[in-house]
Amino acid sequence: MIGIIGAGAMGSGIAQVASSSGHSVILFDANSEALNKAESNLLNTLKKLAEKNKISEQDISSIFSRITFAKSIQEMAPCQLIIEAVIENLSVKKEIFSALENIVESTCILATNTSSLSVTSIASACKFSNRVIGIHFFNPAPLMPLVEIVPALQTQTETVIKSKKIIADWNKTVVLAKDTPGFIVNRIARPFYGEAIRIYEEGIADIWTIDWAMKEVGGFRMGPFELMDFIGHDVNYTVTETVFKDFFYDPRYKPSFTQKRLVEAGWLGKKSGKGFYDYSDSVVKQPPHKEAKLGEQIVNRILMMLINEAVDALHLQIASKEDIELAMTKGVNYPKGLLKWADELGIENCVKQLRELYNTYQEDRYRCSPLLINMQKEKKTFYS
Ligand SMILES: NC(=O)c1ccc[n+]([C@@H]2O[C@H](COP(=O)([O-])OP(=O)(O)OC[C@H]3O[C@@H](n4cnc5c(N)ncnc54)[C@H](O)[C@@H]3O)[C@@H](O)[C@H]2O)c1
Repeated sequence: MIGIIGAGAMGSGIAQVASSSGHSVILFDANSEALNKAESNLLNTLKKLAEKNKISEQDISSIFSRITFAKSIQEMAPCQLIIEAVIENLSVKKEIFSALENIVESTCILATNTSSLSVTSIASACKFSNRVIGIHFFNPAPLMPLVEIVPALQTQTETVIKSKKIIADWNKTVVLAKDTPGFIVNRIARPFYGEAIRIYEEGIADIWTIDWAMKEVGGFRMGPFELMDFIGHDVNYTVTETVFKDFFYDPRYKPSFTQKRLVEAGWLGKKSGKGFYDYSDSVVKQPPHKEAKLGEQIVNRILMMLINEAVDALHLQIASKEDIELAMTKGVNYPKGLLKWADELGIENCVKQLRELYNTYQEDRYRCSPLLINMQKEKKTFYS
């Protein structure tokens, strides 16, 4: 029996995943409207999947009937794993974890789907904190294959092993991450947005050209500005700001005024009709400046920063080499692993380009990871 707390975008998606894998699921939300909405949305989603022949008519009723939409948190009592997916607020989450301890058995794993809070801090709300863990799904949970497993400082090995097994059995790609801000994906992906905005702010290229370069020259599925508009600037800016603060204001993660102003104006992206792009029908799309040299310059600068971030995450043992590569290809659909990319471009070349950026700007943001420098000295590669 799996329990899910919070029936919003993530909670209902995770409930669908667990039920599709044959589990009985109890989905609870403090807001009965949210719960009713989750119930009708889920049924609609399943019907749509059947129309597309992704599941059978029989699957609709079996997946749906395995989910109980609970009006009280007390109904979580028989669960062996509970995944909390309520609003991103530390005190709300701590309160829920503390309450759950009085409801469930001592063997029940208590997991949080938090994107940015410390799992260790959430676990501290529990007496038996060794069964608390981060199980971080990506949005939309039924479609995104990656799940980051994040043990808290207090988590016992058995909890990690059991959690990894359950989530892998749900056909997800599981990676293990240290409990540090942004875990793997939300940390390493920061320059995709931040460096793109810097290039735009400096007037090197406009948003149309940067998005064109990253897609056509770099092979990324979406350009950074399209993607930020899609995610929503409220969400994307908050993640950037939280990661920056939680890294004790490391300049590498510094947010931009450009994005802050968009949030202040309520230009949140696609969902509000305007962000970097204007989504009204009357607006004519601007053509990008498709200059090969400029395209390469844009891609190289953003890519170098992404590679540096991935190498530094490896250097600081945030995750294994394999998990870093899996996280970025499965969690944000990068065309290839960043460490593999570093090898292909040449470690010496990466160090040279990062040093050039550092020398030009004299900003700590462009400092090269010690691991990359050592690898260059020792003429090593990530894959031999
Ligand atoms: N949306 C994403 O892209 C995404 C991706 C990965 C992880 N997350 C994380 O997942 C969690 C949920 O995000 P979301 O986007 O689904 O949020 P959401 O706002 O869509 O849903 C949150 C739900 O929690 C409910 N809730 C609030 N307080 C509650 C309480 N005390 N008890 C029970 N229910 C309560 C709300 O009624 C709401 O239905 C957050 O921690 C977020 O950081 C979000």
